[in-house]
Amino acid sequence: MIKQEKLLITSSNLIAKDTVELILKNNHISQNAKPGQFIHIQLDGFTLRRPISIADVDQEHGKITILFKTFGNGTKKLATYQTGQTINALGPLGNGFVYSDVKDKKALLIGGGIGVPPLYHLGKRLVESNIEVISILGYQTAESVFYEAEFKSLGDTYVVTDDGTYGYQGKVTDVIPEVDQFDIYYTCGPTPMLRAVQEKLENVNGYVSLEERMGCGVGACFACVVATKDDTGYKKICQDGPVFNAKEVRL
Ligand code: FES
Repeated sequence: MIKQEKLLITSSNLIAKDTVELILKNNHISQNAKPGQFIHIQLDGFTLRRPISIADVDQEHGKITILFKTFGNGTKKLATYQTGQTINALGPLGNGFVYSDVKDKKALLIGGGIGVPPLYHLGKRLVESNIEVISILGYQTAESVFYEAEFKSLGDTYVVTDDGTYGYQGKVTDVIPEVDQFDIYYTCGPTPMLRAVQEKLENVNGYVSLEERMGCGVGACFACVVATKDDTGYKKICQDGPVFNAKEVRL
């Protein structure tokens, strides 16, 4: 059963341009969260909840990490919350990344902007499962770059910026040819980026995480649907996803 949880803020940091990292203490969510899952935050004074993916989990200390960009009223308000305050959220929600069948293989993680965080939690679990990890991380500009060192601790990491002020200049898909053979890919980011990755890697097994459009977050409102590739209908991002097999959904 999904029930509302209280999460205690134990740390709040601005880690890049308009990008806030919150570390939150909650036993239920930290013990149960799988890579790719999200929490749905209820802020005082806002009707709609905000879905935010889980970027890291520290089971030993009962903590999770979330990252978000402050581009709307809700996230701007969340950025004002201080250590010691609590927030209410449902979670962990959704179906996460599938990786039980990729043992002894090489995985490529491709993240764009605020789609980067859930790939960090995934990357850590992959490395623990002896899966080699290579990451391509795309950002708008040098000031927007975050978690580069964290991803480098998992494996080779390529950073790309739109304006070339840091790392490679261009799109994440421009860097894919630099990566040696890989067996599977996992990607999260803006829909145009996901579409470009899906097209470029159409012959490779992969998973995409979609999180942009959501209402209720628990399968009741149909605000979050995505069409299936075989045109047989729609899937709910909040309940059937947010992670889908790349061959399953039309972006
Ligand atoms: Fe309501 Fe998915 S957000 S059904």
